Amino acid sequence: MSAHLIPADRDPVGRCDRPLAVTVDGIRIPGIAGQTLASVLLAADRTMWRTAPGGGGRGVFCGIGVCFDCVATVNGVPDIRLCRRPARDGDVVITQSRENRCPATDGGMR
Ligand code: FES
Repeated sequence: MSAHLIPADRDPVGRCDRPLAVTVDGIRIPGIAGQTLASVLLAADRTMWRTAPGGGGRGVFCGIGVCFDCVATVNGVPDIRLCRRPARDGDVVITQSRENRCPATDGGMR
């Protein structure tokens, strides 16, 4: 199985895609309506977008909204689980880590 999106014209189910684009750390990434933000990133070969306290990369682990490994800031709102958030055209995603959090302004680390 591949995380890459099969182009609609080669997909045997004959789907009709409605394209969208999101921006991740300033880079525009195309997707289609119905994808989660995590699936948009995975289809673009982005498998990690957060750094754990121990320095390891994090992205999708459970894929069902349980582990919170996939969190990022979406349209200014931190700690959004990208595996649960449908992608919307124009979404702005900023990757996050505990190191770039400011306890004085955001209430501390979560
Ligand atoms: S991958 Fe586990 S909550 Fe998103």
